[in-house]
Amino acid sequence: MKATKYLLIISISLIMVLLSVTIVSGRPFRLAKLPDEGKNFGCLTCHTKSSGGVRNPFGQDWQKIAIKAKDTYTTELAGLDSDGDGFTNDQEFSAKTNPGDPNSKPDGQTIDPKAELEKVIARGKVLFNDPKLGKSGSSCNSCHPNGGTTGGQMMGMAIPTLKGSAATFPKYKANAKAVITLQQMNNMCIQMIMKGTPLKLDSPESVALSAYVTSLSNGIPVQIGGK
Ligand code: HEC
Ligand code: HEC
Repeated sequence: MKATKYLLIISISLIMVLLSVTIVSGRPFRLAKLPDEGKNFGCLTCHTKSSGGVRNPFGQDWQKIAIKAKDTYTTELAGLDSDGDGFTNDQEFSAKTNPGDPNSKPDGQTIDPKAELEKVIARGKVLFNDPKLGKSGSSCNSCHPNGGTTGGQMMGMAIPTLKGSAATFPKYKANAKAVITLQQMNNMCIQMIMKGTPLKLDSPESVALSAYVTSLSNGIPVQIGGK
């Protein structure tokens, strides 16, 4: 009698261990982290099989990029074309196609250029408020307040408003000792003032940040070299 009781306890605990292993290894929590919450493709957004395991190209990029950022769908990941089908992951989520499967892609007609630009500007605005671009604890907005639309003062240093700023680039900057573009100027603030790593000029982040700053000059006539 005693032996069967032990056997029962052992098998019950074994079942519980097995259950918890499948629940943990199933990692369903990641579905909720996707922009579409996994509604379109479920586990197949990141895996080659619905049971999980082997990662598709989007799942591999997720592993490289998103896990470091506490499992978030970052701007960098949004701007990549993980499956190499010619559409960024973001475009694929918007078109409800699979960013990890090259055979699933939007037909060119569904992409709305205006909406694409607005999304990139919106991402740039998020970066503008993100202290993680540097190591000094400040974001762009700490010095260029109100989203950059007003100027300020910092330790006797005049901080310009960024309204109209993009319309004056390229221009000569004394601290660069060169004529630079807006993207390079943004990098100068990141590197010299925020103690961060300059963004690669062709990265989605650099493009998004300059799209946002440029949006503050919309309608203002271009005057390169101006103040
Ligand atoms: C957003 C992308 C994403 C989604 C969605 C996702 N996974 Fe994963 N999954 C990963 C990544 C990345 C790993 C590897 C890192 C880790 O082990 O946590 C992984 C690991 C796993 C593993 C372990 C495989 C191994 O090689 O160790 C299993 C099993 C798994 N996932 C199952 C699932 C199942 C089932 C679903 C759907 C309910 C799912 N995953 C949804 C990205 C995802
Ligand atoms: C610690 C304060 C500080 C932070 C943080 C900061 N800036 Fe600046 N920024 C300045 C100052 C001061 C200047 C003026 C220096 C100059 O023009 O050479 C400036 C100038 C600029 C200019 C050029 C303005 C013009 O018309 O000449 C741009 C564009 C700019 N910043 C963008 C950014 C962006 C984007 C960020 C975030 C990535 C940022 N800044 C973060 C202080 C800051």
